[in-house]
Amino acid sequence: MTELDELISSRSSCRKFLDTPVPRDLLEKLISAAQRAPSARNQQPWHFYVVNNKELTTKIGKQAQVRLLEHEPKMAERAETFKVSNILFYDAPTVIFCTCNKKAISTRYLDMGLAIENILLMAERLGLGCVPVGWIVGHGKDIVDAELKIPEDEELVLAIPVGYKDTSVDGGRRDRKENIVTWID
Ligand SMILES: Cc1cc2nc3c(=O)[nH]c(=O)nc-3n(C[C@H](O)[C@H](O)[C@H](O)COP(=O)(O)O)c2cc1C
Repeated sequence: MTELDELISSRSSCRKFLDTPVPRDLLEKLISAAQRAPSARNQQPWHFYVVNNKELTTKIGKQAQVRLLEHEPKMAERAETFKVSNILFYDAPTVIFCTCNKKAISTRYLDMGLAIENILLMAERLGLGCVPVGWIVGHGKDIVDAELKIPEDEELVLAIPVGYKDTSVDGGRRDRKENIVTWID
């Protein structure tokens, strides 16, 4: 297998992190991986807020968690399963907040997805764990906007907690659907 095959196969979401901070040069590699992604008309609608302040991310995460649990009380089990104080950012030492330029053309969310997948694969390549977190958009967008002073023309689309994997808790591999292709020769 090539290294890319291995990375794609071995990547899975990590929801339990060590406290060890992630060195700045590795975080820069994640961002340059995102920067090299393709985008429609090369519009590059992305901006990344790399937050290494756990006090701040915990404050945001806990407020959003209150709202999340009002809608989905069963998710409280996750805090127990992963032994974390909040299930938005899983107590990761770094959280990358990904925003998108609202004025970019309609393919902007595809552009964001391509850049974000580059981050996920590069994290795996660097021996880091991470997980895409969409809940923050549904339950804490306004909190993130206020705390990180996100400009009016940017829209939060995802957060990515990042850190070294704590393998004491099994994140579990998710099954993949079969029959996802129709061959037409
Ligand atoms: C757009 C998006 C949003 C997601 N939001 C969350 C989330 O809010 N919380 C979470 O724990 N996982 C979240 N995930 C992770 C998915 O649950 C995970 O990718 C999926 O179950 C497949 O597992 P794997 O990443 O380990 O292969 C999200 C994934 C994507 C792509």
